[in-house]
Amino acid sequence: MSYAPPDPFGWIDDEAGRRAAAGLVRSLRPRPAEPDLLDLASNDYLGLTRHPEVTAAAAEAALRWGAGATGSRLVTGSTTLHAELEDALAAFCGFEAALVFSSGYAANLAALTALGAPGGLIVSDAGNHASIVDGCRLSRAATAVVPHADPDAVRKALDGHTGRALAVTDSVFSVDGDAAPLAGLAAACRESGAVLLVDDAHGLGVLGEGGRGALAAAGLAGAPDTVATLTLSKSLGSQGGAVLGPARVITHLVNTARTFIFDTGLAPAAAGAALGALRLLRREPERAGRAREAAAALYGGLTAAGLTAVRPDAAVVSVRAPSAEDAVRWAADCRTAGVAVGCFRPPSVPDGVSRLRLTARADLTDRQITVAVSTLVSAAPPRA
Ligand SMILES: Cc1ncc(COP(=O)(O)O)c(C=O)c1O
Repeated sequence: MSYAPPDPFGWIDDEAGRRAAAGLVRSLRPRPAEPDLLDLASNDYLGLTRHPEVTAAAAEAALRWGAGATGSRLVTGSTTLHAELEDALAAFCGFEAALVFSSGYAANLAALTALGAPGGLIVSDAGNHASIVDGCRLSRAATAVVPHADPDAVRKALDGHTGRALAVTDSVFSVDGDAAPLAGLAAACRESGAVLLVDDAHGLGVLGEGGRGALAAAGLAGAPDTVATLTLSKSLGSQGGAVLGPARVITHLVNTARTFIFDTGLAPAAAGAALGALRLLRREPERAGRAREAAAALYGGLTAAGLTAVRPDAAVVSVRAPSAEDAVRWAADCRTAGVAVGCFRPPSVPDGVSRLRLTARADLTDRQITVAVSTLVSAAPPRA
């Protein structure tokens, strides 16, 4: 009898079977270059990713600087274009200095690992983005996960801690689109000398005067005890991330943040596109308000028709679904009717509440908003 060795990947099939039985299989759906659906699923809040000025800036940067950054930032991957982008981001958002990363994910890992440390304390909102959760884990600091949007809980968690401490929050929570109570969180941090770290991925370009972000809106931009992380991949229509804060914090990151030191620098095209988007946003500051108005109009239409949604604080509109299966079917029916929406269900949402996630864009027309609302309403499951 011949010996059949055990299948080293047999466990993958077991896990896939369990996922399929629970209706939780994820799959990729490559989209064509020309949009064939009304897009309420992307994070292109200002409609800039295909803006001719932004794509031209990307193309010019690639032609001038090359397709790749050629190395890590401390070796050959820092160009004067990166320095220009860092200066422009810091100036636009009102911080002393900025450091650009290859993604927002890497920026969050950098800030949390460089500012947290074994023996330190990180207080993290229960609704924070996965990249923050991973950054807390990688930092090896003690992490206290506190109830959502609760400055008192943050205050209690920080109370009595000696040594390094920071509280971290999304500015606008990516799933429900609600805003963090930044003023209350800043006050709680200041009482115990802790740093406030705010991930403004969904606030940049949408909140604050001319889209300068949630920290500018809260009067916290440039505060000596406040650090922001950003992604360039949402409102700015590009790719990449950044950390903004006091110059000494940025210098510390250059020297210690592993996702900065051991990662190839941001591709020049992405840096060029982000700079192009910032230039555009300075010239057309009304785009930020238009994205918020579009979100409010979507919310108004959906709730007037009896659906349950979270009142949007920025450009994300979250609509409750009765169950995970209903959410999946609802999103699929919207897609068949020509409208792309996001679908969040467990385990992506730890609270177990399934929802559709719609993103408003500054370039949505009134007609598109009406079509989106009527499509969602007619495809809604009976108990929604
Ligand atoms: C709140 C938040 N932080 C960080 C990220 C990660 O940014 P990036 O996609 O640039 O890695 C995202 C994006 O998905 C996000 O929603």
